[in-house]
Amino acid sequence: MKSHYCGEITAANLKEDITICGWIHRRRDHGGVIFLDVRDIKGICQAVVNPDNKESFKLAESIRNEFVVQIHGVVKRRLEGTINKNMYTGEVEIEVINLNILNNAKTPVFPIDGYQDVNEDVRLKNRVLDLRRPEMNERIITRSKITSLIRNFLDKNDFHEIETPILTKATPEGARDYILPSRVQPGSFYALPQSPQLFKQLLMIGGLDKYYQIARCFRDEDLRADRQPEFTQIDIEASFLDQKEIMKISEKMIKDIILKFCDEKLEKFEVINWHDAMRDYGCDKPDLRIPLKLIEISNLVIDEEFKVFSEPAKKDGSRVVALKVPMGNKMSRGQIDDYTKFVSKLGAKGLAYIKINDVNDLENGIQSPILKFLNKQTISDIIKTSEAKTDDLIFFGAGSEAIVNLTMSSLIKKLGSDLNLYKKKWAPCWIINFPMFEFNNEANLTPLHHPFTLPNASKKELLEGPEKVLAHAYDIVLNGYEIGGGSLRIYEQGMQETIFNVLKISKEEANNKFGFLLKALSSGCPPHGGIAFGLDRIVMLVTDTTNIRDVIAFPKTQSATCLLTDAPSKVDKEQLEELKIISTHKEE
Ligand code: AMO
Ligand code: AMP
Repeated sequence: MKSHYCGEITAANLKEDITICGWIHRRRDHGGVIFLDVRDIKGICQAVVNPDNKESFKLAESIRNEFVVQIHGVVKRRLEGTINKNMYTGEVEIEVINLNILNNAKTPVFPIDGYQDVNEDVRLKNRVLDLRRPEMNERIITRSKITSLIRNFLDKNDFHEIETPILTKATPEGARDYILPSRVQPGSFYALPQSPQLFKQLLMIGGLDKYYQIARCFRDEDLRADRQPEFTQIDIEASFLDQKEIMKISEKMIKDIILKFCDEKLEKFEVINWHDAMRDYGCDKPDLRIPLKLIEISNLVIDEEFKVFSEPAKKDGSRVVALKVPMGNKMSRGQIDDYTKFVSKLGAKGLAYIKINDVNDLENGIQSPILKFLNKQTISDIIKTSEAKTDDLIFFGAGSEAIVNLTMSSLIKKLGSDLNLYKKKWAPCWIINFPMFEFNNEANLTPLHHPFTLPNASKKELLEGPEKVLAHAYDIVLNGYEIGGGSLRIYEQGMQETIFNVLKISKEEANNKFGFLLKALSSGCPPHGGIAFGLDRIVMLVTDTTNIRDVIAFPKTQSATCLLTDAPSKVDKEQLEELKIISTHKEE
């Protein structure tokens, strides 16, 4: 239907007879001449319809934005003064010989041309129009190109792309499962995979050596700006590679992506112990572009009368930290109040601070609502420990480790963004030596990653003090986003049984849920390990958006709804009866 893409026509095509197809981006009537901006996936070019071309001119008069057209014409140089240097095709235009309207279109709900601040719900309901916006078009194409680079990279490194089932059994990754009823086995359910974790391990036991898959994963969990209920992993597993080897190849892949798509050569990734990350940043996904760290000051305030500080300083599982913001004393009262509200929403009881107007004058050079509660020597010690200088500000967080870590790590990221403290464009790191387990809200041990992770301990140590055991697990973090996570796996049946034992999973339950794995582990399982990257998050970072929905063609909202199709939706009574399902849900 066409000989050229609109966006690719330049002076190199002068005098050529060409045919293009696309959408009317804009129509302009210029005293007897009609200009049509025609848009396709590669860009926009200008076509001109002269009134002496009567048939085409009449059609052009009836054309509106988003009509689909085919244009046959000749490429001409634009008149001097009408050349548009900002446009790739701006030196030329197409003199229309024949205009063919392939389809008309209703007036779009929002204009495609130019940036419009359209409400996201409206965009998602009208996703086809939204996808036509050049910016969205580009993101989706970049995603496809990144996927293609990854495939090439892994193919070259002897990985095999293998599909694993979607209708399957639960794979625990810490979220709720989406389940699907079986019609032929009433009362039984499939689970959609939270990840291909168990199947990729089985593939290793099956001798396939190196596996990858661009895998769709499903997790029924609370959604955030970087989380979707269905998302895509670049899922990788390999036999006979150790942790360093897996990290090396992962690092190379990420470096290749950033070099190709962002033209940036990443430095060697910093490697940080999980415990150090929690101590210094309050989280295991620090944004190392921001030069702010938490400083433990429990020992400095432990004897103070100010209970807000001294009580958590004394208590196990609590901490008191200082966060120095260089040149932060410019911050207004209003700004500080806003930060206080920000941390309060996350659970903090307050946000104490001191402003240092003159570091050499502790009498008059310090400004703070808690000045009267703290001893001069303590203030001096805090300033010394945090290496604060004149014009700095220090925030404080005190309370349970969980709340202090959450609020102060979030505050670091917010300050970084609000005050533009970024010292570099890209800051990747590895977080390693995670604890094997953590305590959940009901004070039960749960795996920090998943229960198939290889612990760095003997069975005896596991049984005696599981909370102290570290795991051979590693996460990869880029600019504060966890873009991937993996581990070496348990490859010996006895060790896997010990983990189930620690997790208080009975033999019977273990056999019901994971009997197939235990059996495979005893059939000659190679040492193996792997990693999974969040493709959506990588594309977000590369295309410079903080909204995961911008990089997924048909995403879901925070309430896991697809506004375009209205999924999830009711099903017919007959369908439920066939599945032997009765809903107990009462309509309001
Ligand atoms: P994990 O649960 O850490 O590990 O997931 C791997 C990566 O997937 C991305 N990710 C998500 N992206 C968008 N929306 C979500 N809801 C979401 N959840 C996770 C993150 C994360 O780093 N089987 C293990 C991997 C392994 O051990 O090999 C796993 O799934 O970027
Ligand atoms: P209060 O005793 O609650 O009036 O608090 C005195 C000061 O300490 C105020 O500036 C509060 O914002 C701050 N503050 C209170 N609780 C905390 C906390 N848990 N962490 C940090 N600062 C706090």
